[in-house]
Amino acid sequence: MTTQWNPEGWRQRPALQMPEYADDAGLGAVLDKLRSFPPLVFAGEVNALRRRLAQVSEGNGFLLQGGDCAESFAEFHPDNIRDTFRVLMQMAVVLTFGGAVPVVKVGRMAGQFAKPRSSPTETIDGVELPIYRGDIVNGIDFDAASREPDPNRLLTAYSQAAATLNLLRAFAQGGYADLYKIHRWNLDFVDGTETAARYGELCDRISEALDFMEACGINGDSVPEMRQTDFYTSHEALLLNYEEAMTRQDTITRIGGWYDTSAHMVWVGDRTRQADGAHIEYCRGINNPLGLKAGPTLDPDDLLRLIDILNPDNDPGRLTLICRMGDDQVMEKLPPLIRTVEREGRKVVWSCDPMHGNTIKSSTGYKTRPFDRILAEVRGFFAVHQAEGTHAGGVHVEMTGKDVTECLGGAQLIDEEQLASRYHTHCDPRLNASQSLELTFLIAEMLKQQRAERPQAAEAAQ
Ligand code: PEP
Ligand code: CO
Repeated sequence: MTTQWNPEGWRQRPALQMPEYADDAGLGAVLDKLRSFPPLVFAGEVNALRRRLAQVSEGNGFLLQGGDCAESFAEFHPDNIRDTFRVLMQMAVVLTFGGAVPVVKVGRMAGQFAKPRSSPTETIDGVELPIYRGDIVNGIDFDAASREPDPNRLLTAYSQAAATLNLLRAFAQGGYADLYKIHRWNLDFVDGTETAARYGELCDRISEALDFMEACGINGDSVPEMRQTDFYTSHEALLLNYEEAMTRQDTITRIGGWYDTSAHMVWVGDRTRQADGAHIEYCRGINNPLGLKAGPTLDPDDLLRLIDILNPDNDPGRLTLICRMGDDQVMEKLPPLIRTVEREGRKVVWSCDPMHGNTIKSSTGYKTRPFDRILAEVRGFFAVHQAEGTHAGGVHVEMTGKDVTECLGGAQLIDEEQLASRYHTHCDPRLNASQSLELTFLIAEMLKQQRAERPQAAEAAQ
């Protein structure tokens, strides 16, 4: 492995999951344009997220990462962005208050367009067409024209990411995330459920605490963090053409180094994490905090090799291992990874993606995920960390603020028949707002327990 790196170096490596564009000149022109566009995020923000994640890796904090499986051009609407942001804020409040930990909020938003697929083509009624790879690549409609990779989609994705990020920044900094308004974050369709009642109670307790603090002279004027929040963006670094075009050298602070300015954090998927592959080669050279998906086929020695490549300086906050084993494998596959990382003294954030190892096909033909299995994987993840004495540091979920029916179960008892009623995802099934909150209450309880059992670790990290 050479240490020399440049943003195009990945082109010399085998690159899986990348589309083939028929129009080479068209692609080149689009990439040139992208290279001239403003960065979406700045080095200082990226470095700040790294510092926050470093604290998480040291046991002080929790990473909440969530959003769409795939953002789509058709569903681009301010209400959708607002609703997802709102549920993420609710989840963050539940974790901060219930779990008593600082929460690092990262959306799978403002750039999560490209999807890895298990097969390059799809056949329906004897017709075989290229598979849908996300709106940044081709269209979801099953016809030849729509499935043809179109370079102009890169520009639409950039614009949508820029507008989404702009709104997210406004929500985070401009008053929407005001702790004094948490009651107003409630979503109508969650009303009447037990989860809504629990959330309402929690808001009452927070309001009381805020009143008490106000009486002591601490309020939103003296502590601005009570009226605003830091919110970061992330997506899978899959479409390397796009990521390369967004890669810039930091010139403002003159601290040097390359940044992928398409998002604060990017991750490498479970299908593209080959140590000698293009995706790992690209990611090793950027300064952004990185995620690495760790599925059941990841061998501990291979993991160590990947850590050597991605985080040679053993910098805490650089690398988040997003474990997605499946509820039936987490107890068996996670401990060897943790033991290897611990034995070698490597600093990482351990996060749990309870979605991607628990996907099934319903009898009615829908790709779905049983909520019980999602909960079971999260419980397993916490149990393993408790047994190993390590910090369960985060969760990574596919969710939406909309009242969709894509995952089975939860307090609304969504069954196989109901999946059809509001199944809107462009790729994998997402938790709806109610299921997201229900899961979060469970995590908050486990965090509280983790803190009670390892108070010395939490204190040492302060
Ligand atoms: C994803 O996060 O959407 C995804 C495809 O995950 P994984 O790489 O873990 O399968
Ligand atoms: Co997915």
